[in-house]
Amino acid sequence: MTSKLTAIQRLRIQTRHRVSIENYGYQPQALFWSTQAIQEIRFQKLIEILPQSCFQSELNESHQAWSLLDVGCGFADLQRYMLKQQLFPDYTGIDVSPDMVRGAKGMAPELSVIEGELSDFEYTNNQFDYVMLSGALNEVVETDIEGLANQQGDYAKSVIRKMYEISRQGVAFNLLDRRFAWHETRTDLQSFYPQEIIEYCQSFAIQVTLVEGYLENDFTVYLHKQPSGFRS
Ligand SMILES: C[S@@+](CC[C@H](N)C(=O)[O-])C[C@H]1O[C@@H](n2cnc3c(N)ncnc32)[C@H](O)[C@@H]1O
Repeated sequence: MTSKLTAIQRLRIQTRHRVSIENYGYQPQALFWSTQAIQEIRFQKLIEILPQSCFQSELNESHQAWSLLDVGCGFADLQRYMLKQQLFPDYTGIDVSPDMVRGAKGMAPELSVIEGELSDFEYTNNQFDYVMLSGALNEVVETDIEGLANQQGDYAKSVIRKMYEISRQGVAFNLLDRRFAWHETRTDLQSFYPQEIIEYCQSFAIQVTLVEGYLENDFTVYLHKQPSGFRS
């Protein structure tokens, strides 16, 4: 079963994002990204999981429609980034912050962007071709109200597992890297050891790929459901 945020954890995330939008407006900084360039470096790593057949160009007549779920979509900037890269998924974004959803819908009313966390929805196995997540597991959710219990990333792992179940082709997500000292000064953010996440993913996924070295404090993981030779 997919973990649920407690009411307090949910409210904390919603409040942080409401305040950040009040402070920064509809900018990457409201999403806790320092710049748009940093946000887009993460997007670029996510889309590198996609086979050539997802990219639409005059040369690629075999392009097929494909679906994407973006978990913790913020303003749905990933969808706009994809358009610039000739990617036109059947896009759905979900976000636990109503203010983010309002912002996303304000910029693109036609997009399917819905308020909620993953466990709020009854998505079925293999429902989306790809499921992606950028930054939505950076919020501290593992500490209880007294600040005592550390559940060792249980919430994040449960979301990753669910993303895998509801994807048909694969999953791409990023997390903050705990191997760098900066995390000691950012107790509001949650970070992970790549090896631990990789081992966790290997316990259920048929093919797990770690991508690192593109930013000091971040890593990306691909979970392919089909053997990679099948993809392009
Ligand atoms: C760092 S921002 C990134 C937004 C977007 N993915 C991007 O890169 O532009 C994280 C987003 O995830 C949302 N979020 C945080 N925890 C979440 C959760 N458990 N489920 C769904 N959304 C969540 C926040 O409201 C916020 O909009």
